[in-house]
Amino acid sequence: MSHSPDSSQSTLSHISIIRPDDWHLHVRDGEALKSVVPFTAKQCGRAIIMPNLTPPVTTTEQAGIYRQAVLAAAGENSTFQPLMTLYLTDSTPAEEIKTAVASGIISAVKLYPAGATTNSDAGVTDIRQCYPTLEMMQKLGLPLLVHGEVTHHEIDIFDREKQFIDQRLISLAKDFPELKIVFEHITTADAADFVRESSAYIAATITAHHLLMNRNDMLVGGIKPHHYCLPVLKRETHRQALVKAAISGNNKFFMGTDSAPHSRHNKETACGCAGMFTAFAAIELYTEAFDEADALDKLEQFSSLNGPLFYGLEVNSDKITLQREKWTVPDAYQFGDDVLIPLRAGQTINWKLVS
Ligand code: DOR
Ligand code: ZN
Repeated sequence: MSHSPDSSQSTLSHISIIRPDDWHLHVRDGEALKSVVPFTAKQCGRAIIMPNLTPPVTTTEQAGIYRQAVLAAAGENSTFQPLMTLYLTDSTPAEEIKTAVASGIISAVKLYPAGATTNSDAGVTDIRQCYPTLEMMQKLGLPLLVHGEVTHHEIDIFDREKQFIDQRLISLAKDFPELKIVFEHITTADAADFVRESSAYIAATITAHHLLMNRNDMLVGGIKPHHYCLPVLKRETHRQALVKAAISGNNKFFMGTDSAPHSRHNKETACGCAGMFTAFAAIELYTEAFDEADALDKLEQFSSLNGPLFYGLEVNSDKITLQREKWTVPDAYQFGDDVLIPLRAGQTINWKLVS
């Protein structure tokens, strides 16, 4: 941890909140999917399921098949609802948007700039190619979820989010003033400011790991592959700006874990994958972040109210309870026929979901 708890911290021993939703989640497919979905199904009412599989989920038909697999992995007795997304490419037809909306199972479309992150090779190379499709999304009210980083080699990796705002997002928002856009997993003060100052059509998700860690947690005292994700962790001032946004009570900011499981051998290698696995303790990690900011009273709004408000959905009808109790995270979890190293492996988390 990069900072110590504030002395003015609340000493509440329990907190009950409306069941949260995860507005940005990777669950993979096959056996890996079966390993990770139950963690989210236990905590969240719903989750936006990312489409960056190989091959990517580009059609409503594929998303329907994927949805059935996620539901099966959640288990028969689960009430968890996966909210599916389509992966935008340069050639996604506007017609596909009509099909997606008519299906009732597609909640959003995901824009990955080509080459920005895991399985983004089929992503968008030129956003102008997508304008007819975006036009249709704006007309039908289907949100665009944006991985907001430019990919040019000459742009420093720590500046890629800010450059995306300046080079892409400002003009996109101007060209589509009524397109709902979620600026995903924001990591900088610049992104928080941009969202705060933009219209009600623009919101943002914030991960627990970006609220809890800065780039020192990845680089000081030895390189930590399990703390490598994209967008990469930023400097402490940015972390503080994200905390401020999350606890502000502004309804434009909501929970999206970006829990992104990779096998241990794909992380602990010469060219490790980006992503942290946090779904096993998603709400506990957010609770810890809000507690450290002495803002437990703002947690429910961020985790359970703001997301449904933006997506035009009802909030969940039941509650969960967390207890202030330190517990030790397992060293690894099963992940298909491999293992997965969770965030905080072998270390403690200060809150525990009890019901
Ligand atoms: O760290 C990340 N992992 N960032 C992303 O954008 C993708 C994700 C993944 O799919 O592994
Ligand atoms: Zn993601």
